[in-house]
Amino acid sequence: MFKKEVYIDRRKRLKEKLSNGLILIPGNSETPMNYPGNAYLFRQDSAFLYYFGLDMPDLTGIIDLDNDKEYIFGDDVSLDDIIWMGPQPSMKELSQEVGVENSAPSKEVGDFLRKASNKGQKIHTLPFYRAENVIAFADWLGIHHSQAQEYVSEELIHAVVEMRSIKDSYEIEELEKAAAIGYEMHVTAMKMCRPGVYERDISGVLEGIPRTYDGMISFPVILTQHGETLHNHYHGNKLEEGKLMLTDAGAETSMHYASDMTRTIPIGGKFTERQKSIYNIVLEANNRAREMTKPGVPYLDVHTEAARTIISGLKDLGIMKGDVEEALNKGAHAMFMPHGLGHPMGLDVHDMEGLGENLVGYDNEIKRSSIFGFSGLRFGKRVQPGHVLTNEPGCYFIPELIDNWESEKKFSEHIDYKKVREFQGFGGVRLEDDILVTNDGCRILGKRIPITVEEVEKTMNE
Ligand code: GLY
Ligand code: MN
Repeated sequence: MFKKEVYIDRRKRLKEKLSNGLILIPGNSETPMNYPGNAYLFRQDSAFLYYFGLDMPDLTGIIDLDNDKEYIFGDDVSLDDIIWMGPQPSMKELSQEVGVENSAPSKEVGDFLRKASNKGQKIHTLPFYRAENVIAFADWLGIHHSQAQEYVSEELIHAVVEMRSIKDSYEIEELEKAAAIGYEMHVTAMKMCRPGVYERDISGVLEGIPRTYDGMISFPVILTQHGETLHNHYHGNKLEEGKLMLTDAGAETSMHYASDMTRTIPIGGKFTERQKSIYNIVLEANNRAREMTKPGVPYLDVHTEAARTIISGLKDLGIMKGDVEEALNKGAHAMFMPHGLGHPMGLDVHDMEGLGENLVGYDNEIKRSSIFGFSGLRFGKRVQPGHVLTNEPGCYFIPELIDNWESEKKFSEHIDYKKVREFQGFGGVRLEDDILVTNDGCRILGKRIPITVEEVEKTMNE
């Protein structure tokens, strides 16, 4: 946990952004795997962590704007609990650790909310994403669960997005720690990647690394010799010499700040000329994107520049053809890079995605495009100092997409399908770094994981 002044200050700033009512931020509960007493690794809600800091289940935070009071509802442990869990601080002590003066048992949340609602106080919540929290909220207010969504407050979402988007120095320190763990994960993957090894032999080891730092993975590890499937979570293949292994993996620190990096490496430790030709295009897109990212520049423009770089590179190889700008505007590059350049990152690996991608990544000035090739971009706004984003261009040969587009002769003025067929079975390349926008540009968080052909081959063969 950060020191309590951090949480006091965050709640104070949040209060200043909202006019009136009551802000409800429920924490998460344990989620059973196969029976109630056997739960998945606990993950606290990120908004609760941000404003109330406590990383344990069954807590509810309330900020009463009209009466300027803050509450944490939760239960003191019983003697029986202590026998199983050991001694635990009281709710009063826990609340004081994050500067909240009032605490009360969880059975009182319902009464508290109903009274507030009956008095005409507006209740602001963030969007729900766990069924248990929807059911609890509906029970507290005596409403049907389908009505819970009516309490989601755009005013609150905007305030939270505004605050969480700009990372403070102590948050950046945590993000750097997450990056260091991510570095270890990726270098481990490079050293373990050999023909004959199973993908799961490596992915299993990677998952354990953040645990040794009292953290966890920030999302399920993607590690595959079929990188053409963007989020491939199957780890059952035996690695084959001559293919590429794509690893997209990151860590959460013990405080739940994330990293998310991708590297693509040659199984066998040496890139073929053909692999290098695609790899270096993606690397150039990554570098150009980073060089271009500075305060005031829309990330949509950075995405566009990365896509332009992919098109130019593929044109040099004869895979794409025609006018680059025309191909770009039509979205012909989506055949090879169907996803966005990146997303915000922080306490969530896709930061605040649950609050609504467009409310986080777009605004009145920059709206989300509906054109395939741009529509996948989760964050298009002008970047500001303190923003943390991923920079993850890619180039993939996706058999089903190639078949589909070729059958429709889609963008045949820009795509040489005969040449594309020569890359059948190539897989995919993605190269992802995490970047922090600074006052005059941006920088990569943590030490950059080996990325040039030479650096990767050297690391793999050390
Ligand atoms: N690293 C997975 C993703 O960004 O979606
Ligand atoms: Mn990512």
